[in-house]
Amino acid sequence: MTDRYGVIGHPIGHSKSPVIHRLFAAQTGEDIRYDAYDIPPERLAEELKSLAEEGLRGLNVTVPHKERVIELLDQLTDRAHLARAVNTITLSANGRLDGDNTDGVGLLSDLTGNLDVSLKEARVLVLGAGGAARGIIPALLGSGPRDLFIANRVVERARSLAERFDALGKIVACRFDELGGQHFDLIVNATSAGLRGEVPPFPASILARDTVCYDLSYAMTPTPFVAWAREHGVKQAHQGWGMLVEQAAEAFLIWRGVRPETKPVREKLPA
Ligand code: ATR
Repeated sequence: MTDRYGVIGHPIGHSKSPVIHRLFAAQTGEDIRYDAYDIPPERLAEELKSLAEEGLRGLNVTVPHKERVIELLDQLTDRAHLARAVNTITLSANGRLDGDNTDGVGLLSDLTGNLDVSLKEARVLVLGAGGAARGIIPALLGSGPRDLFIANRVVERARSLAERFDALGKIVACRFDELGGQHFDLIVNATSAGLRGEVPPFPASILARDTVCYDLSYAMTPTPFVAWAREHGVKQAHQGWGMLVEQAAEAFLIWRGVRPETKPVREKLPA
């Protein structure tokens, strides 16, 4: 029998997850169906219950449900608990709902596996201190950087993330205007500034030609952060398409026990 999976979000029309998972299924020969479900926040609990009753085996979770869905789940993995956000749910036949978060490991796979970026002893800067930043910081810290800076407009949010992840490694929280004079090997944009066509207000002087810039956001054309980095001479500026495919491959592995090849799928998405 065909096993059913899907992605829940609001809006959801833009989601590439159905395309990605269908390509994974075709490649691995797994007999699955994968659909997108548009669920407004106020209907999350009842729609999740009805998808479980329909026998779905797994769900990806996207904006705006990644945090709210936690209260509806039975158990979280450590990494989902740390991130306080869930992007992958496994539904068991006995009705149990398990939450996981593959965003951090997806980012690491893209950086180290696809883009050949070494994080060991690297100086890393994360721009933003919201949900997206929280999802990736534990994975970044786990890969042994020399320093991890978090810069945010509202510096208290950066400080609270630094405190939350204190046990995992050294984090420095600061404002954007305190970054002048620093040099970073990797700058990750985890702000939502690009949604309004903006770039976080950090000093261009911290960019060097060999700085790798990575935007967690992705679009059909270069995001404002990627375009801005390229305009400032950065050779390696990437948007988050690779991470999207890698986090999906990790979810597929959790559900089906097989990790698909990501390269052929990544090649079908924008650069
Ligand atoms: P998400 O789940 O996408 O991370 P969020 O939790 O609302 O969403 O966080 C959005 C992040 O983008 C925050 O770090 C926010 O900064 P503040 O905490 O200072 O508000 C950041 N952000 C949004 N627009 C921005 C802009 N124009 N410039 C800089 N940072 C911005």
